[in-house]
Amino acid sequence: MTPIHKVIKDNKTSINPIWIMRQAGRYLPEFRKIRKLNTDFIKLCLNADLSSEITLQPLKRFDLDAAIIFSDILMLPYGLNQKVEFKKDFGPLLGELNLDEASKLDEVDFVKRVYPVYKAINQVSKNSLTVNKSTIGFVGAPWTLLVYILNKQSPKLKLKDNFFNDDFLINRILFLIERFLKLHIKNQIDNGAEVIQIFDSWAGLLEEKDLPNYVYIPTLSLVDYVKSLKVPVICFPRGIKNYRNYCEIVKPDAICIDYEVDPLKILNDIKIPIQGGMNPKILLTDKDNIKKEAKKYLDIFKDHPYIFNLGHGVLPETDPNMMDYLVKFVKDY
Ligand code: CP3
Repeated sequence: MTPIHKVIKDNKTSINPIWIMRQAGRYLPEFRKIRKLNTDFIKLCLNADLSSEITLQPLKRFDLDAAIIFSDILMLPYGLNQKVEFKKDFGPLLGELNLDEASKLDEVDFVKRVYPVYKAINQVSKNSLTVNKSTIGFVGAPWTLLVYILNKQSPKLKLKDNFFNDDFLINRILFLIERFLKLHIKNQIDNGAEVIQIFDSWAGLLEEKDLPNYVYIPTLSLVDYVKSLKVPVICFPRGIKNYRNYCEIVKPDAICIDYEVDPLKILNDIKIPIQGGMNPKILLTDKDNIKKEAKKYLDIFKDHPYIFNLGHGVLPETDPNMMDYLVKFVKDY
């Protein structure tokens, strides 16, 4: 078993596996070099040779315990024929989803559009750099994808007032997303993904009363599906206030916490393996501070199954030397 599997499946506490959200990306000069020559981000994700190379870049530098496949949660709307672009200094920009067309879309056609993602997973999981490491596949949670599909860009701090107006439309989209997410997950697993992480980056935009409809119920269905395929599933419902309720209802195999979560409180509240927590901004400070903060998490979770990670993706302005320092500190702890 890989270290991450030992923590999730055996509740092991004496090891501290580490991987970092967005570990392959803009803070690495070797990534920026490839990115500069490949201005279309979606095309880059769909170039299996380049996306596997990018996935492996952080593993060449740091002793990480997982490879997370270089792709994006927005490959799902892309697969449904919604236009998806990434604009510099703006982020994702989507076109209109043609729901009638998408509802008639054949699963084979979806797979054809995104198959290089699966090919890349296959290549990465067979590469010698991933021996005794976990290859992580991922998807966006139904709620977060619904937000992008309808809002067509990142929502910033709040949703438009009319976001929930068309209940029937929302339900049709959620139904569609769930069906294709399962297909996307199944194909990632069939090609070598050994863990699935579900990113619910915008869960924190919802009021408590709306969580059951948009977060708990659709995510539980996905979690059950991943479990039926005998692969561990980690959920990251960023920004929600009550992680305990979430875990009791959705029942992921492990929970990834954001940087606003109090680690002492969560230790008391939650019995399942925990991942993440440290604020990515800490990596922009100095080594003493990185050591102090990382130690805080490692100390608090020393008798709890814990996977070290940040409380959100690593920031593009991070110095790779600081990442190196963090990984070594965690490994030597
Ligand atoms: O973690 C990894 O190393 C794997 C790769 C990965 C990417 N996106 C690559 C990427 C993963 C796991 C994601 C998930 C993702 N994508 C999420 C969930 C996690 C989170 O950050 O909350 C979300 C919300 C998206 C949608 C998305 N993709 C946004 C909002 C942006 C733009 C934001 C930004 O930082 O510019 C992206 C683009 C994106 N996805 C980049 C990368 C490396 C940057 C693209 C570039 O080089 O311009």
